[in-house]
Amino acid sequence: MSNNHHLHADYAPLLQSLGLPPQSIPDALIRQALTHKSVMADVKTEHLPYNERLEFLGDAFLKVSLSQWLYKHLPDVDEGVMTQIRAYAVSDRVFAEVAKSIDLARYIITGRGLQNVAHQDSVLANVFEALCGAMSLSLDFETVSRSLLHLLRQPIERAIKGEASAVKNYKALLQEFTQAQDKNLPLYTVIDTQGPAHERHFVVEVSVKGEALAQGSGGSKRKAEQNAAKAALKALKVLTPAQSPMSPLAQQFFDQSSLEISQPEGLYLAPSVLSADFGCLREALESIRLGGAPWVHLDVMDGHFVPNLTIGPPVIKALRKYSRQVFDAHLMMSNPQDYLKDFAEAGCDRVTVHYEATDEPGVLITQIRELGMLPGITIKPDTPVGVLEPLLEDVSLVLVMSVEPGFGGQQFMPSALDKIKQLHTWRSTRKLSFLIEVDGGIDETTLPSVIAAGADVVVIGSSVFKTPDPVQTMRQFNQQLKSLKRPNFDH
Ligand code: DX5
Ligand code: ZN
Repeated sequence: MSNNHHLHADYAPLLQSLGLPPQSIPDALIRQALTHKSVMADVKTEHLPYNERLEFLGDAFLKVSLSQWLYKHLPDVDEGVMTQIRAYAVSDRVFAEVAKSIDLARYIITGRGLQNVAHQDSVLANVFEALCGAMSLSLDFETVSRSLLHLLRQPIERAIKGEASAVKNYKALLQEFTQAQDKNLPLYTVIDTQGPAHERHFVVEVSVKGEALAQGSGGSKRKAEQNAAKAALKALKVLTPAQSPMSPLAQQFFDQSSLEISQPEGLYLAPSVLSADFGCLREALESIRLGGAPWVHLDVMDGHFVPNLTIGPPVIKALRKYSRQVFDAHLMMSNPQDYLKDFAEAGCDRVTVHYEATDEPGVLITQIRELGMLPGITIKPDTPVGVLEPLLEDVSLVLVMSVEPGFGGQQFMPSALDKIKQLHTWRSTRKLSFLIEVDGGIDETTLPSVIAAGADVVVIGSSVFKTPDPVQTMRQFNQQLKSLKRPNFDH
C-alpha cells in the first residue's frame, strides 16, 4: 500500500475497533497521533512536537483511568500487588500487544520506504499512547476510559490472576511504587567497582530520601541498578513470591464479569450497492456519503458459489478512490483464499467469507487479518449458527444471511432472528466483541426486529437504492436506527 493510502486513510474502522463512534476524533488529530518521530526522519516534521505531547498526555490518561478502575474494583488488594498490576498493564509490551489487536500498524503514517518501522513494538506502543492522548482531547473521560479498559481487559486479567510474568523493568516498578507512596524518586549510587576494566563488576545502592533500601551487583551499571531495584522491591514486599494476588473480591468480580464490555457504539447502516445502478456506482457512493451511512456493503458473486455474477477486486479498486466509508466486502464465491490479496490491494477494510465456501475457516480468517483487513464469517440460511461457535473469538464480525445469497430484493427470513439472538447471547456471556451484521430483505418493517435481536450492522440494498431518493431514504433509516431499542448486553 502506498503512503498516499495511509495519508488518506479512512479512520472509521480504527475508531470502531476502539469502541468509538465514527468521526468521534477529528481526522487531523488522529493523523497527528499516528505520526511517529522515529519514522518521520525524512518527511515533514511539523506535527512532531504535538505528537510527543499527545504521547505524554495519553500515557498520563492511561495511568489515571487504570488506577481509578483498579481502586474502584479491587479495593482490598494491597498496594504492592496493585502497583505490579498497573506496571504490567501500562508496559510497552502490553501497549504493543493492544496496538496489534487493533491493527494500528496499518494506519501509522510512516516516512518514505519506512513502513516496516510501523510494526516495531516500541513504535506501536508510543503511537498507541499518542492515540489515547487524541482520544482524551476529543471525548469525555468515561467514554475514553471504557474504551481503554476494554482494550486492556485481557492484560489486566492476566496481571490480576498473577499469570503475567514478573515485570522485568524493576527500576520502573520501584519508581512507580515510591511515587505512589508519595516518596521521592529512588536514587542509585555506585558504591563499589571490582575487577579489571574489561570485566568490571558494579555494586549499586538504591536509596529513597537518603534511606538505603537495598544493594545490587552486576556486570554493568545498568544491570546492578536493576538488581538493586529488584532487591528493594523484595524488601518492600512489592515482589511477593508466586502466590495468587487475586483477592476473594477480585475473584468474585471476574466470575461475575461485570467489567463493562465495550459494545459497538451506535448502529451502522451498510447500504449494499448491489441494488444500485451498476452504471453509476460512483454516484451510489456519493449518495451513501450524503445519506450518512458509514459503511459500503460490496456483494461479490462468482456465478459458482451463487448463481449470479457481480463485481470483484478491479471494480472495488476503482471505487475506492471515490469513497472514504468502510468497504465491507461480502464474498459469495468459491476458493476465496485465492483472491484475498486482491481484495486487500483493492482497498477493502473488511472481508466476510462464507463458512460453506471453505474447509478451513480459521485459516481464512487469519489470512484476512494478516493482509491488514478485518475478518468476518457468514452463513447461509440453512446453515446452523452453532458451526460458528468455535470461530467467534477470532472474527471481527459475524454476518447472518436473512435471505438465500445471490440476489437482492428477496423477502426477509424470520429464522435469522434466532441466529442473531444466539450470537448476541454468546457475545455477552463470553465477553466477546465481534459485530453482528444482518443481510437481506431489510426494510423499515423488519429493521426493528433485527435490532431488538442484537444486530449492530444492517445491510440494506433494494429498500435504499430502489427508492426515488436513496439519500433521503438512508437519512430516514438513520433516524429510525436512533429510535430503536437494543437488547441488554448483560445476561
Ligand atoms: C444478497 C446480498 C445482499 C443484498 C441485500 O446475496 O448479500 O447484500 O444486496 O439486498 P436486499 O436488501 O435487497 O435484500
Ligand atoms: Zn451481502
